[in-house]
Amino acid sequence: MRDKLEEIKKKFSSELSEVNSSEMLEELEQAFFGRKNGKLTLLMKSMKDMGPEERKEAGALANEVKSEMIAAFAQKKSEIQARELVAALERSAIDVTEPKLPARAYGHLHPITQMQYEIEDFFASMGFMVADGPELESEYYTFEALNIPADHPARDMQDTFYIEGIPDTVMRTHTSSIQVRALEKYGAPLRVIVPGRCFRNEATDPRHEHTFYQLDGLVVGDDISFAHLKGMLEQFAGFMYGEGTEVRLRPKYYPFVEPGVNVEVSCFLCSGNGCRVCKRTGWLEVAGAGTVHPEVLRAGGVDPDAYSGFAFGFGLNRLVMLKYGIEDVRHFMSGDIRFLRQF
Ligand code: DAH
Repeated sequence: MRDKLEEIKKKFSSELSEVNSSEMLEELEQAFFGRKNGKLTLLMKSMKDMGPEERKEAGALANEVKSEMIAAFAQKKSEIQARELVAALERSAIDVTEPKLPARAYGHLHPITQMQYEIEDFFASMGFMVADGPELESEYYTFEALNIPADHPARDMQDTFYIEGIPDTVMRTHTSSIQVRALEKYGAPLRVIVPGRCFRNEATDPRHEHTFYQLDGLVVGDDISFAHLKGMLEQFAGFMYGEGTEVRLRPKYYPFVEPGVNVEVSCFLCSGNGCRVCKRTGWLEVAGAGTVHPEVLRAGGVDPDAYSGFAFGFGLNRLVMLKYGIEDVRHFMSGDIRFLRQF
């Protein structure tokens, strides 16, 4: 009996030393103390066939061994529980020493939007409001209100998309279409810019696209003159292309201004010496502008004898193309990620 107990105890100790999880601990418990087949349980059950003296002695010895085993078991159990608790805490905790996660690919603003925001900031600093208007616009606000009657040849320069089933409506060809809307809504005096998307029926090529962006501007007030326009454009040129950039105005016909001009700035790439981008002229065309035509003021409900004003319109695509030396306007709407990633 003593030998058998010793053997069980030895086996138990060696198996206990191998245990390193609560699952293994439970298996060991069943294997030795299990009610039905536990090794120690079976041995103790076998004692019932012994004679009274022998049984007493064996019983005492067995109980001694059993309590030693149970003590060792309890010790191991508390060790394992403690270790498992620490492991669980470590798993759930935030490790501040962990290396930074790989940077995610965030998107960014389209180069035209970046240009738009930059110009908006400039004009906002001069007290302009930023207005918005419909892209699907009435022919009236797009053309007639801007002194372009239906049979006027100027309409041919701005051929656009007409919508089937919606008469007298066009995809706006310029954001100048908001000029009369703004005058009607806010009256004079007024300082407003209108950035936005425009459309024209173009056979597309590197310089022409059916969808593009403009930023139109309108100033109406007491005694606003052509000199104010020039002063403002010089400020703008300095802001966009650096101090000392020159502005050149040359006559150009636009039906909604009189006189009308082409606005050019001295080429910021070659400082006016002549290069490929400015086609060796030293000048870059950046806008159309002029003194607001009395008919436009009248259409907006403003008395041309009481007020005067100037207007201007930038092609945002063109400004971005000049800034970065982009050779084909069709890149902007292509959605090509290789193009967009460069800005
Ligand atoms: N709307 C003109 C265009 O699309 C550009 C323009 C010229 C706007 C003169 C103006 C202006 O406000 O005064 O070609």
